[in-house]
Amino acid sequence: MKALILSGGKGTRLRPLTYTGAKQLVPVANKPILWYGIEGIVAAGITDIGIIISPETGEEVKEKTGDGSRFGAKITYILQSEPAGLAHAVKVAQPFLGDSPFIMYLGDNLIQSQLDLFLENFKKNQLDALILLRPVPNPTAFGVAKVDENGRVLQLVEKPKVPPSNLALVGIYFFAPTIHEAIAQINPSARGELEITDAIQKQIDTQKHVEACSLEGWWLDTGKKDDLLSANQIILDSCIATPVTEFKTDATSQIIGRVQIGEGTEIINSTVRGPVVIGENCRIENSFIGPYSSIADRVTMIDADIEHSVILQGAKISGIHQRIVDSVIGQRAQLVNAPPRPKALRFMIGDDSQIELV
Ligand code: DAU
Repeated sequence: MKALILSGGKGTRLRPLTYTGAKQLVPVANKPILWYGIEGIVAAGITDIGIIISPETGEEVKEKTGDGSRFGAKITYILQSEPAGLAHAVKVAQPFLGDSPFIMYLGDNLIQSQLDLFLENFKKNQLDALILLRPVPNPTAFGVAKVDENGRVLQLVEKPKVPPSNLALVGIYFFAPTIHEAIAQINPSARGELEITDAIQKQIDTQKHVEACSLEGWWLDTGKKDDLLSANQIILDSCIATPVTEFKTDATSQIIGRVQIGEGTEIINSTVRGPVVIGENCRIENSFIGPYSSIADRVTMIDADIEHSVILQGAKISGIHQRIVDSVIGQRAQLVNAPPRPKALRFMIGDDSQIELV
């Protein structure tokens, strides 16, 4: 059994963060989204992993993630020259996949469940495809399945205008090598992509053994800012178990609750109220960091208050007297010097940024 993780694509929905970086590397609780998928796959016993990368962000994904040894896996990077669809990515990966069955995992999906039970079901029943389904309030944004009363999959449609049900396809699929024949028989969709939903539909139409399981627990498709903040909240809640013990603060700082702090970080005259994760070599001075915040490496915060926010590497926030909430601040961004009643606001804001003064 192998795994194929898709970490190519354009990442338009998380702009502006993803103009310069891969969306799968955006951190949740200071760890790239992609790494949660790798860890889940390795935990299910699969260590031969191919990762689809794009020409624009592939080098960054490779450099950060490495050869897999840190995860106890072997990673092969596979370049997809253009984001021509999920089934196209499988086609490009065919030399890596050979005639092995495989899990296909979309690199921007995060799930709570472990993969082993699904894997067991897929193997035991010798399926051609196993898909995971989950009811959603907005099925038009997903691949959608129509199933009969016994849970048998009848039809799959990608982002339908009129959805046949509210059951969305989760971005995790189990395939036998017969999927390659199905992909060879489909054509690009109206949006110009080779759709994996069409390939699975082809399997259904040719009487291959396709089944669906329902996914329990949380599932996050980290496509947008609010999804990213919810993912951050859920992961901080479930993954930061213990308060820091070894960290020494100065006499005027307080660290309350479940907080993780990286090496070389200084906290001076500040309060940190968990769950919070703070990376390495940060400087936090005269500040408050409230629940559900993730502060990446090398962030500087001086005279600032934040909560329920994600601050990326190297950002600087200083002299902001209003509390910053529900915010995502990109790498090396600077937010400085707002007096209590500013006379004027001066910005240099990248394309597609959002500023809300509330
Ligand atoms: O998240 C679940 C949904 O994922 C499913 O319900 C849909 O059926 C499925 O098509 C997919 O929809 P998205 O619109 O979320 O797909 P997106 O274009 O965001 O691509 C998903 C991942 O695959 C992302 O990490 C980028 C990567 N990708 C995408 C394309 C189109 C590639 O590596 N190559 C590609 O050609």
